Amino acid sequence: MWQSKLLPKLAMLIVLPLLLLCYAAGNVHCSTIHENSEDFHSLLDFKKGITDPTALSNWTSNTHFCRWNGVNCTLTRPYRVTELVLPGKNLAGQISSSLGNLTYLNTLVLTNNSFHGPIPLLNKLLNLKYLSLGGNLLHGAIPDTLTNCSNLVALDLSKNNLTGVIPPRIGFLTKLESLLLNGNSLSGVIPPGLGNITDLSVIALSENQLNGPIPSEFWRIPNIATLYMFDNNLSGGIPQSLSNLSSLGQLSLEGNMLGNTLPSNFGNALPNIQFLYLGGNMFEGNIPASLANASGLIHLDLSSNMFTGQIPSIYS
Ligand SMILES: *[C@@H]1O[C@H](CO)[C@@H](O)[C@H](O)[C@H]1NC(C)=O
Ligand SMILES: *[C@@H]1O[C@H](CO)[C@@H](O)[C@H](O)[C@H]1NC(C)=O
Ligand SMILES: *[C@@H]1O[C@H](CO)[C@@H](O)[C@H](O)[C@H]1NC(C)=O
Ligand SMILES: *[C@@H]1O[C@H](CO)[C@@H](O)[C@H](O)[C@H]1NC(C)=O
Ligand SMILES: *[C@@H]1O[C@H](CO)[C@@H](O)[C@H](O)[C@H]1NC(C)=O
Ligand SMILES: *[C@@H]1O[C@H](CO)[C@@H](O)[C@H](O)[C@H]1NC(C)=O
Ligand SMILES: *[C@@H]1O[C@H](CO)[C@@H](O)[C@H](O)[C@H]1NC(C)=O
Ligand SMILES: *[C@@H]1O[C@H](CO)[C@@H](O)[C@H](O)[C@H]1NC(C)=O
Ligand SMILES: *[C@@H]1O[C@H](CO)[C@@H](O)[C@H](O)[C@H]1NC(C)=O
Ligand SMILES: *[C@@H]1O[C@H](CO)[C@@H](O)[C@H](O)[C@H]1NC(C)=O
Repeated sequence: MWQSKLLPKLAMLIVLPLLLLCYAAGNVHCSTIHENSEDFHSLLDFKKGITDPTALSNWTSNTHFCRWNGVNCTLTRPYRVTELVLPGKNLAGQISSSLGNLTYLNTLVLTNNSFHGPIPLLNKLLNLKYLSLGGNLLHGAIPDTLTNCSNLVALDLSKNNLTGVIPPRIGFLTKLESLLLNGNSLSGVIPPGLGNITDLSVIALSENQLNGPIPSEFWRIPNIATLYMFDNNLSGGIPQSLSNLSSLGQLSLEGNMLGNTLPSNFGNALPNIQFLYLGGNMFEGNIPASLANASGLIHLDLSSNMFTGQIPSIYS
């Protein structure tokens, strides 16, 4: 009987000094008393999936996991992983889905490595704000469940080997400010709901195999600054009466199958445009005289289209 009361106390007497030692010295063997063993084991699992983990040489039980290279944690107990940031570290292998258990994670950056295999299941990461897996060799589809990470502010999956469609529910990511999906093999249409995200300022969908029209919602995103959709198979045109897109500085649509005439108020609706690339499409009719009002233009490419008539006096 007495044992059941005494044993926990005894255990505390042994563990407490160890805990203190562990925090004081940092290099004591702490593995047994990492206060969030789930995060500790999730990270070790992630390391196991990496073929050459040289960059993770201090990911050992001698060091608290919050001090491992690329890891950052909450400032208070229980120490939970908030950031895993390892860009350009020559890491290869598969990204373990154990990262999907780091439920306090707000930043996951594994950009510019050589990870292959699928994007892991991250749907439980409701605190995730910044996800950058660009510049790897990831393949397969973008999991629709990624749209459950409803706090995402920046999503970068660019320059991988991703296929399939852009998740139709991507418009549910209402806090998104930056979306980089360029340089993959994505197909299908651009989900119109994406254009309803009011904070979006950067969208890069270029160098994929997307088809169908540019959703009309895109021409009303209030804060859009950069819109890259070149080298796809987009069709349709640009709305004939464009609303004021005063934050748009870069619009690149070259190398698609876009056509019809440009809106006559084009230049007036883009008062701050600097880079405008429309080459290699099937635009026709006149080059709108209003382009003369886009006085901040640095680069203008209208080549390889079917424009007719006179070149307006853009530099008057
Ligand atoms: C782990 O390695 C990183 C990079 O080499 C270094 O910045 C960090 O201080 C190391 N952590 C510890 C506890 O030595
Ligand atoms: C680690 O996270 C804390 C708060 O969570 C933050 O104050 C600190 O700047 C972060 N450190 C690094 C190196 O990102
Ligand atoms: C994630 O955590 C759950 C519950 O602790 C566990 O059953 C599961 O195996 C973990 N998944 C991975 C991939 O580590
Ligand atoms: C990834 O590499 C590209 C091209 O070299 C570079 O522009 C970008 O800044 C890198 N990103 C990160 C997060 O290191
Ligand atoms: C994603 O969220 C939806 C609704 O918000 C929920 O019904 C669904 O179970 C979630 N899916 C996953 C895989 O977490
Ligand atoms: C990309 O995927 C395609 C088809 O799945 C494959 O043929 C190609 O080798 C992959 N490229 C890379 C760089 O992995
Ligand atoms: C976008 O928002 C408009 C106006 O609120 C709404 O009518 C439309 O259905 C929305 N589109 C999508 C695809 O969610
Ligand atoms: C591009 O789209 C057109 C229809 O708009 C289609 O006929 C053609 O096959 C598509 N090309 C590619 C390479 O997908
Ligand atoms: C467009 O909006 C900007 C900033 O809100 C404003 O300065 C400009 O006059 C507007 N242009 C037109 C043509 O409405
Ligand atoms: C250029 O802008 C001025 C002032 O907003 C406007 O009066 C004029 O009609 C515009 N020119 C064209 C060709 O749209």
